[in-house]
Amino acid sequence: MNVKKGEKVIILAIESSCDDTSAAIIIDGEIKSNRIANQSVHEQYGGVVPELASRAHMANIVPVVKSALEDASVHQKDLTAIGFTRGPGLLGSLIVGVSFAKSLALGLGIPLIEVHHMNAHILAHFAEDPKPQFPFLCLTVSGGHTQIVQVDDFLDMVILGQTIDDAAGEAFDKTGKMLGLTYPAGPIIDKYAQDGDAIYTFTEPKVDGLNFSFSGLKTSILHFLQKEMKKDDQFITNNMNNICASVQARIVSILLNKLTLAAKKTGITQLAIAGGVSANSGLRNGLINLCNENGWRHFIPAFQYCTDNAGMIAVSAYQKYLAGKFVGQEVTPKARMEM
Ligand code: KG4
Ligand code: ZN
Repeated sequence: MNVKKGEKVIILAIESSCDDTSAAIIIDGEIKSNRIANQSVHEQYGGVVPELASRAHMANIVPVVKSALEDASVHQKDLTAIGFTRGPGLLGSLIVGVSFAKSLALGLGIPLIEVHHMNAHILAHFAEDPKPQFPFLCLTVSGGHTQIVQVDDFLDMVILGQTIDDAAGEAFDKTGKMLGLTYPAGPIIDKYAQDGDAIYTFTEPKVDGLNFSFSGLKTSILHFLQKEMKKDDQFITNNMNNICASVQARIVSILLNKLTLAAKKTGITQLAIAGGVSANSGLRNGLINLCNENGWRHFIPAFQYCTDNAGMIAVSAYQKYLAGKFVGQEVTPKARMEM
């Protein structure tokens, strides 16, 4: 293994933790390419089918890496290091990216850098301007996680609160399943919500401190839909926009009320959102309004850096490269991983 000194730092980053296969190139901290292959095979199942995800990753990884290299006009022999998502995520999906990264690094004789997927979602804020200054608070909301994180430095983060059951993305996806929508339902609910009004009220769960809970909300939505469908079996079809607007408004208010509490508790008033659910228009607008009302600063990533992508893995890998944090060929993927 050989860490090249005094030359351009060119890192290939690979993301394969769930159902998106992605590769990116970052040169001296600047993202030059970010290719993502989505997997439509899961749509009909209402969620990601792990075995199908692994197979699709195997089919996608070589072409995706090739395209990322080509987009950045980089040859693989020019690479300085390879960064990859070690976890958390689906084990079968992670194995594909980790094995690929290890083999290529071994073949090229260059170092490996492991990346924590949730750390990378937060560092997506450093992919483009404006960049937050440390410390800032980040509400990280994805299909598997819902966390409020105090970010003191690139690699120094403390989780202040998190969900005790479902993640915010899961709340969107499971509601979508009840409404007969395909997976992932978050973006579809977002679209319907834009033409609806939040006329139905779902109670806000009472959870201590900065933690979240979404399982009670899921049950109350189910009971509400069952009750209304008994009276009118076309209720969902006829009221889709308003149902989606109501569900979205409640999920967003749960998230932003806790973020507000975190800002008041810590005195930190630079507020960021990250992860797949940060693509939600209700959450994005809600954060902007919240910050404008209080004189706080908001940070919202560009859409391409919200959902899973290797660009964010590249940002994290570059910071770890600067900190000299490498791993050896013995590294294995981790479905659960501490930040
Ligand atoms: O971060 P991500 O791409 O993958 C995980 O690490 O989980 O997040 C995926 C989640 C899914 O639950 C999806 O429904 C949700 O993000 N999502 C959205 C939107 N776009 C993606 N949820 C609400 N509104 C959106 N526009
Ligand atoms: Zn993610």
